[in-house]
Amino acid sequence: MSPESPQNNIPLGRPTPARMYDEALHGKDHYEIDRVANTTLYEGIGESSVRGTALENRRFLGRAVKHLAHECGIRQFLDIGSGLPTMRNTHQIAQEANPDAKVVYVDYDPIVAVHGRALLAGNGTRIVTADMREPDTILEHPDTLSLIDFNEPVAVLFVAVFHFITAAEDPARIVQAFRDRSAPGSYVTISHLTSDGPPEEERLAWVKAFEGATSPLVFRTEKEIGALFDGYELVEPGLVRPYTWYPDEEGSPETSALFGGVGRKV
Ligand SMILES: C[S@@+](CC[C@H](N)C(=O)[O-])C[C@H]1O[C@@H](n2cnc3c(N)ncnc32)[C@H](O)[C@@H]1O
Repeated sequence: MSPESPQNNIPLGRPTPARMYDEALHGKDHYEIDRVANTTLYEGIGESSVRGTALENRRFLGRAVKHLAHECGIRQFLDIGSGLPTMRNTHQIAQEANPDAKVVYVDYDPIVAVHGRALLAGNGTRIVTADMREPDTILEHPDTLSLIDFNEPVAVLFVAVFHFITAAEDPARIVQAFRDRSAPGSYVTISHLTSDGPPEEERLAWVKAFEGATSPLVFRTEKEIGALFDGYELVEPGLVRPYTWYPDEEGSPETSALFGGVGRKV
């Protein structure tokens, strides 16, 4: 293993959002420290509520990618904060619509590349280990540029990731950097934990569970989440509870913890 191997950079002493989310979705790629952090949350607000929120979000991601690939003709995806490979990953859904669809997975947690390489790499996909707080490291990355043609429409996915970005880190600046590079006809997809829904004690329990993690958790209002779509026109049905966004036969847990939507670049 070389000193730069992603394995060597995996934070073992702290829970990480990618591994906690994996645990909540009943995945296998997390550690005891992540289970412990989630357990405090389960004890605080109920296991089914937390796991339901994770699954509602994941199913929204799947339906958004399907819609973008089938209805909007999108053939290239930048999946930012992609998380560990799990059920129905972006390229599997996109390539059902178009076998030539290209997907670049980006995550700042090195475990995503370690566990994802076998499942996610190849087949018109790349995995980039980079931090979205430095958008140019993603936009200029050779692996990004080897698959994504920014002269053609691209869908940028920020699904359940902006709640790990603080106000001081300026989320709007991050969306704008990707929007500026995107061709006309491009899309953005965002989902986000919201303070317009869950009672305060639930939000505090979520925040506390992430206190020792590699990123803190930030809840935003519906208005603040809507503002992230600046420069995009929300497609129907707008910014909504994700379980109501083009629901399908698979069904979805119904929570008031999230808002999600898809916008088209104007
Ligand atoms: C809750 S998971 C969501 C995974 C996937 N997008 C989904 O919705 O199913 C959040 C992911 O965002 C990643 N993440 C958090 N902050 C990030 C940052 N600054 N840059 C890149 N990825 C980040 C985490 O490592 C984690 O994998």
